[in-house]
Formats: sequence, C-alpha cells, structure tokens
Amino acid sequence: MKILVVGGAGYIGSHMVKQLSLSNHEVITLDNLSCGYEDAVKYGELVVGDLGNKDTLNKLFSTHKFDAVMHFAAFIEVGESVINPAKYYHNNVSNTHILLDTMVKHDIEYFIFSSTAAIFGEPQYTPIDEAHPQHPINPYGRTKLMVEHMLEDYDAAYGLKSGCMRYFNAAGADPDGELGERHNPESHLVPLVLQAASGRRADIKIFGNDYPTDDGTCVRDYVHINDLCKAHSLALTKMQHTGNSARYNLGNGKGFSVQQVIDAAKKVSGKDLKVVTTDRRAGDPAVLVADSTLAKQELGWQPEFDQLETIIETAWNWEINFLASNHC
Ligand code: UFG
Repeated sequence: MKILVVGGAGYIGSHMVKQLSLSNHEVITLDNLSCGYEDAVKYGELVVGDLGNKDTLNKLFSTHKFDAVMHFAAFIEVGESVINPAKYYHNNVSNTHILLDTMVKHDIEYFIFSSTAAIFGEPQYTPIDEAHPQHPINPYGRTKLMVEHMLEDYDAAYGLKSGCMRYFNAAGADPDGELGERHNPESHLVPLVLQAASGRRADIKIFGNDYPTDDGTCVRDYVHINDLCKAHSLALTKMQHTGNSARYNLGNGKGFSVQQVIDAAKKVSGKDLKVVTTDRRAGDPAVLVADSTLAKQELGWQPEFDQLETIIETAWNWEINFLASNHC
C-alpha cells in the first residue's frame, strides 16, 4: 500500500513510518517539523509542510494515489491546551478538518486517527472500555473527541472510513535503538525518569502521593510504541476488509503506579535517582487503565511488550544512544 503518514517525524509517527516501511508499504511523511525531527524520518520521503495547507495537500494527493492516511500531527500537552486552547483548536481540529476535506475531494477512503484516553475524562469505572462515557476535562481531550465526531459524520455522509486509536500511556522506544521519544519540552513520566537516571535532569518529581492507590501515586497503563503501531496496521487492514469504521482503546490492561515506574527505571538503568514528591498536577485522575478486549477480539491484537521493565529497557537504550550521539 501507499500510505501518507501525517506527523511522521514525531514520536509515534516515526515508529509507524518505520514499521510500515519494513512491512513493504510505500510511505510518505508530511510533517511541518514544529514538534518532529527531520532525522527521525529514517524511511521513505519527507515532505515538509503543514497538514492545514490545502495547496500542499492537493499537490500530494494529485501526485500520489494513497490507499490510506494516518494522522499523528496533533499537539498533545494537556496543560498547554488549557492555557492556549486556540493553538489546539486550530491545529488539532481546524487543520484536521482541512485534511479530511482534501482527502474526500481526492477520494481517499481510509483514515487512521491517533486519539487518546483523554476523550473519556474522569473515569467512571476502570478498566475503561469503548462504551465508557466521553466527557473530556481539558481542551486537548475535547479536540480529539471533536475529530472523532467529525469522522463519524464524514463516514455517514461521504463514506470516509476511519479507525480511531485511543492510546493510554504510549511509552518505550524502537527496540533497534534507532528511534525514541523526543518531546520538547518533555512532560511524560518515562522519558523524564530516564533522563534523571542518565543525568540529563537533576531529579524526578512525583506529582502527588496521596491518591487512593496502593502506594498513593497515580496508576497508568503503559503500552509500548511498537504494539500501538501494530494495532494501527491491523485496524487499517480490518477496515479495508469490513468496510466499517472502528474505535479502539489501546493499553496493556495493567496499571503501574508512578512509584513502580521509578523503581523499574532504577532497576533497568542500575542508577539511583533523586526523587522529589510535590503537589498533585491538576487534572490527573488517580487510575487510568484500558480495557482493550475489543482490539484483541476484532483485530487479533496482542501486545508483545506487556512487561513494564521491557518497555523501560527499550526507552533506556534510546536514552543512552541519544546521549552518546551528542544530541544534548
Ligand atoms: N508524572 C509525575 N512526574 C512527572 C511526570 C508525570 O509524577 O514528572 C505522573 C503524572 O502525574 C501521571 C503519570 O506520571 O500520574 C503519567 O504522566 P504522563 O504525563 O506521562 O502521562 P499522562 O497520564 O498525563 O498522559 C497520557 C497521555 C496524554 C493523554 C493522557 C490521558 O500522554 O496524551 O494520558 O489521560 F491525554
């Protein structure tokens, strides 16, 4: 297949590009490099451009007959989305709208969308399945849910088939050590802990230890990036066979606390970390764990990296490689 990966220079997109390319698909990345890195696109062509630029899209879709588009080009910082919602509505909603309209105009039938557990908001029960009520509590989650709604309407009206992949906590890195997580600024727990282990940061902060969990720290469902990417490919294939759009919650179904992640990072890295407990971060639910039964049943999806230590090992290898290549 020929696939356009929008946001293919970012963390999840770059792993997707690699996996698709190694599975013999022809991949083109469209990325404006606002958050992604040119050197993260190790396979296929990179077109530097914006997903909201109609001229760029029209040119791409006229030059290539894509079988599908995968979209990873959203802004993802929950805190920033509260302070600067305009940035999120503009890119995550308006620009995605332009992308979808241009796809419809060029008769591209399949769309895979990088969605999030944040569309559910405060959990009403756990683990969270696809039937869980959707009440996002921040602009980031709302922008993702808006696109999910847009996709339902575009399917009904224009026949655009979509797969919405709702990640819980994407983590880990390419097991070959070629790609990894590089957000700037970094706000995610796993890379931050490992940067504290490698000495890139002075400490790791635990945002609250008074939650109603076993050790008082928040529990999350960490799922390896390669497993997530695999689910995207399976969802695309399934959609092409059934002709139906679908939505999947993607996680390992196992929760680990912030303290457990820190302990695992210490063990994997062999380094002691300075840990500082601070106040809670606003908007953090105590426990977020996915029920991925639907993805397993419908797609035959089975995460390979279901051990926290294995996920952290891949991220630690990336951190070491990254330091050795003098990026900092
Ligand atoms: N945490 C710390 N210290 C840090 C960073 C994070 O204690 O320095 C804690 C957080 O409070 C949270 C856990 O580690 O309890 C995980 O935090 P992350 O920021 O790594 O991830 P989130 O669970 O906040 O976010 C993830 C996705 C978002 C998505 C959200 C859904 O990254 O895109 O889940 O709720 F919106």
